[in-house]
Amino acid sequence: NSIDDGSFTWSSPSNIALVKYWGKKQHQIPENPSVSFTLSDCKTITKLSFSKKESASDFSFEVFLDDEKKDDFKPKIVTFFKRIENYLPFLKDYHFKIQTSNSFPHSSGIASSASGMSALALCLMSIERALNPKMTNEYFIQKASFLARLGSGSACRSLEGDLVVWGKHKDIDGSSDLFGVKYPFRVHENFKNYQDTILLVDKGEKQVSSTVGHNLMHNHPFAEERFKQAHKNLSNLISVFKEGNIDAFVEIVESEALTLHAMMMTSLPYFVLMKPNTLEIINKIWTFRKQTGSKVCFTLDAGANVHMLYPEKETETVLKFVNNELVAYCQNGHYICDKIGFGAKQL
Ligand code: PMV
Repeated sequence: NSIDDGSFTWSSPSNIALVKYWGKKQHQIPENPSVSFTLSDCKTITKLSFSKKESASDFSFEVFLDDEKKDDFKPKIVTFFKRIENYLPFLKDYHFKIQTSNSFPHSSGIASSASGMSALALCLMSIERALNPKMTNEYFIQKASFLARLGSGSACRSLEGDLVVWGKHKDIDGSSDLFGVKYPFRVHENFKNYQDTILLVDKGEKQVSSTVGHNLMHNHPFAEERFKQAHKNLSNLISVFKEGNIDAFVEIVESEALTLHAMMMTSLPYFVLMKPNTLEIINKIWTFRKQTGSKVCFTLDAGANVHMLYPEKETETVLKFVNNELVAYCQNGHYICDKIGFGAKQL
């Protein structure tokens, strides 16, 4: 099959890890398995247009964010293309135009790498499928996740929903270090439509890139224990999800977030990525839980923003709490209401 030109458009969401991926080996292989909630509204939409070149030369593409040319995105994409060219032999045959936009504000401190890289990987796989029309859906999604992983590790967990596991784990048949898989077990209805309200504490550029961050786990004094703990936390989450035990969920999720930050505080060089307002919010959440019996908990990425996770039936009370007490700690009072979602879509 040969195709001269065309375009594909995909919308792909962000995700929030419950058990965190922190530390990797060569070729984007994670040091420990992770599991995440796929988000619903925080997403990237990418249109990939392609046209055949006269003759295959080096990679050739342009990239636009919100219709504005973004040459500073190019090096990241060249790195990605180099990593995947052996798996997508057509990559040098076409000129590409990549047009992308995010549903969340550009400088919100929300990383767009998971949604952005997964959307791009899906667009590229659509070309691969057009060239190989017999491809099964299962193969398509697995290879797209495999490619997304090579763009940004956590991106391989953004294609499907509502829970995705990445990394080999003894209790999860079919789990792999190479791509994300849908969480295969029963999830109690307590976790249905779980909400994620993201409090934007610091919208600035990331202080530590995730590449630098993952590398901090090399020769880290607590690395081996941390990797073991992630396996154990994932094992425990399986029964927590089965039984609907939200108290146990809260304990695992908050411990994972604090451990991620503890790893950064105890590495060399060391970093503190929480801000005073991050801690204010965490303390307020703990007090709120004690006073009201709420099941809301927090998690963090490698930054200062706080994700508040809670059952759907608490939406009204938690948002009241956010508006009355927590907006004061958000930069310009900004927060984003999101919830569990079901993965990427072709548009
Ligand atoms: O996908 P990366 O390389 O940007 O790493 C992301 C790591 C965390 O967001 C901190 C944790 C995770 O599992 O998503």
